Amino acid sequence: MDLKYTILVIHGPNLNTLGSREPGVYGRETMESINSRIKELGEKNRAGVKFFQSNSEGEIIDCIQQSVSGTDGIIINPGAYTHTSIAIRDAIAGCALPVVEVHLSNIHKREEFRNHSFIAPVCIGQICGFGGFSYDAGLIALLNHFKSAEQQG
Ligand code: DQA
Repeated sequence: MDLKYTILVIHGPNLNTLGSREPGVYGRETMESINSRIKELGEKNRAGVKFFQSNSEGEIIDCIQQSVSGTDGIIINPGAYTHTSIAIRDAIAGCALPVVEVHLSNIHKREEFRNHSFIAPVCIGQICGFGGFSYDAGLIALLNHFKSAEQQG
């Protein structure tokens, strides 16, 4: 298959326990199931998708820094670091890649401390509230962003 783009999906802390973690909030779908669906959706659209999960802020920053070459865009669910991490925000701002922030839950209708994202201002956009489908929507949005950028030359 002739792949045109390489996309990196980053899952932050506690997302490795999706499926059993607070199913009333995050649903029953596991991270592995989301990943295999996103991989398939990417390949249908000529995009190869790589995945990374870490519970550590520093490892997420290292991953963003190392992805600068060989990656066309990033989809990130920073988990709780969304609301705390200026360091992840700075890594995204410094990587010069288009980044889409995604969340399973609608962070704007939850506890007040989840309403603010340090990450969103350095992303092309934020998608939240659609369960595992937020990742699918993030991938479609990123592919559409590439297309618009190509059309603008
Ligand atoms: C989350 C929302 C965050 O507030 C929370 O800390 C998570 C998951 C989501 O996908 O809805 O870990 O990022």
